[in-house]
Amino acid sequence: PLPIAILISGRGSNMVAFIEAVAAGQLDARIALVLSNNPDAAGLERAREAGIDTAVINHRDYARREDFDAAMVARLRQAGAELVILAGFMRILTSVFITAFRGQLLNIHPSLLPKYPGLNTHQRALDAGDSEAGVTVHFVTEELDGGPPVLQARVPVQPGDSADSLAARVIVEEHKIYPLAARWFVQGRLTLSEQGAFLDGKRLPDTGLT
Ligand code: GAR
Repeated sequence: PLPIAILISGRGSNMVAFIEAVAAGQLDARIALVLSNNPDAAGLERAREAGIDTAVINHRDYARREDFDAAMVARLRQAGAELVILAGFMRILTSVFITAFRGQLLNIHPSLLPKYPGLNTHQRALDAGDSEAGVTVHFVTEELDGGPPVLQARVPVQPGDSADSLAARVIVEEHKIYPLAARWFVQGRLTLSEQGAFLDGKRLPDTGLT
């Protein structure tokens, strides 16, 4: 099984989806490390309960982002990670980290990218009067939330939705598409090149597969 690492900052429900996919034999990977920048991330406890190695590298201990990133890279190398999964990891990464894991670094972002990079995605979709919202799994490049998309899932916006009710509808889809994208990677089917993301040698569309 491919050694993978999962980076979290909070609840870790996407991380749990990975733990379950591995346990169910749907993802031929070994979760070598769950790493958090936040010592109080609830997901750390859930990882420990599942018997997974955890580590905390607190960004507050570093004056420079590059030094924080270098410390994370060193810890991930030590764990032997060959795929890094950002799962609700809320720190902006520098090129120190991104170049170290280029083509081996995936993120999930709760919008239909390229719409709404950054924060408060669901509120922004509501404010814009969008009729649908969703989530994107993408390769990470230096452009914030701008790397080549792999997979998207769409959900309808319903009358009376709040950011929370919309988030609850979207997260169900996150838990499906993120382990699926990782499965493609683990199977050697999903790759990144200068030209974009490729599945089975075919360039994926600019919004990823839906
Ligand atoms: C998820 O909705 C994820 O898409 C989002 O944070 C949540 C984490 O939930 N990620 C971002 O906003 C990245 N900028 P989880 O901790 O339960 O997986």
